[in-house]
Amino acid sequence: MEDNKNIDLIIKKLNIKSNELYFSDFKLNDLANKYGTPLYIVDEELIREKCRLFKKAIKDSLKNNGNILYASKALSAKFIYEIIKDEDLGIDVVSTGEIWTAKFSNFDMSNAFFHSNNKTDFDIQFAINNKIGYFVVDSEEELFLIDKFAKEKNIKQNIFIRITPGIDPHTYEKVATGKVDSKFGFSIETGLAEDIIKKALELKNINLIGFHCHVGSQVFDTQVFFDTIDVMVKFIKFIFEKYHFLVAGLNMGGGFAVRYVKSDKQINIYENVFKICEYIKKKFNENSLEMPQIYFEPGRSIVADSSITIYTVGSVKKIPNYKNYISVDGGMGDNIRYALYGAKYTYLPISNVLDEFDETYDIVGRFCESGDELQRNVKLPSNIKRGDRIACLTTGAYQYSMASNYNRVGKPMMIMISNGKIREVIKRETLDDIIRLDV
Ligand code: LLP
Repeated sequence: MEDNKNIDLIIKKLNIKSNELYFSDFKLNDLANKYGTPLYIVDEELIREKCRLFKKAIKDSLKNNGNILYASKALSAKFIYEIIKDEDLGIDVVSTGEIWTAKFSNFDMSNAFFHSNNKTDFDIQFAINNKIGYFVVDSEEELFLIDKFAKEKNIKQNIFIRITPGIDPHTYEKVATGKVDSKFGFSIETGLAEDIIKKALELKNINLIGFHCHVGSQVFDTQVFFDTIDVMVKFIKFIFEKYHFLVAGLNMGGGFAVRYVKSDKQINIYENVFKICEYIKKKFNENSLEMPQIYFEPGRSIVADSSITIYTVGSVKKIPNYKNYISVDGGMGDNIRYALYGAKYTYLPISNVLDEFDETYDIVGRFCESGDELQRNVKLPSNIKRGDRIACLTTGAYQYSMASNYNRVGKPMMIMISNGKIREVIKRETLDDIIRLDV
């Protein structure tokens, strides 16, 4: 590797040879020439590595009393469920579309947790018919409907109840879910949580397994998890003493932060999860409560830094005394996270990587609105021009899964690097795909 001390190679398997950027030993310019751009590139081994770190951490701390569920909203596609199944993780699904995709990859649905704050009658029946393992109940209406449909099938449906512990996760507002006024869950503070538990315990076709709490996403501070555990264990004890119901499962949700830019802290997944598990054990022990099965539901931290996206520059517009724009052939259609959250990313040129980054640009997309920005104030070489390619790092989570067909632009393809070989895992949408649903 050459001297690249000024370059933010913040993800693994990214390196520079002869002034060219490589990912997993593939020269990115070659991949762009072969497959076109925009192009999502995933490294399989990096995904598997994360799955194993999570699993090892809970195993080392909790032995067999826990499991990891991959929150598949972060990236849902056939190939990912196959990897997750192979790594022996469960999944979190939030729609019939995710359930259907998981089934398409022969995922065992008894290992799936079905979320969503508004499941339709169809969703509930579909999930029951497909033998979903657990519902994570998020409304009273849902609870009674599950009971009704389970009765029709003559089964007792396993459920968790989503609890809002009243914790501020210190992340951006659109992904914070643990506060009392959240649309998700039943809050402890208002008594709604106790009320729904009481109702669930009375229903004949409902088997209440335990509680779920997810306080937010992109959480850097482990203390947030400790605070959540304090609240949850206190509540579990309260419910046990009052109703003689002891949880058999506690699902802590996901939310582990990922490093997108150099200034972000790098979270050590193993240490972090191990510490949280140890803390859970300690708290249950202190309260003389038997340990339930513990689940974590990471999405972002499993897939985000396994991937990059590459784009081709279409124009460079320099507005004297104002700003410089680079327009690329993707944008908010394949990555809406900057437009929606102001999410930060690292961008690099994929050729001439060692040239000086002596100009500042706003990187914008090809879509017809000013809000179609990918990142402001990015330092790149001043000689960048049409036809050059740039890479956006850490794009495995919530890019493809939030992609749209705005302006009737097709979604990019995704390729996966596995053991030195490339596999197309999601095809590029064609013009025929674009008109497929028009009648
Ligand atoms: N469990 C539940 C119940 C969730 O709602 C979520 C994320 C997760 C687990 C996984 O959280 P993670 O480990 O990925 O942070 N579109 C946003 C993120 C929305 C997260 C929604 N729920 C983004 O692009 O930042």
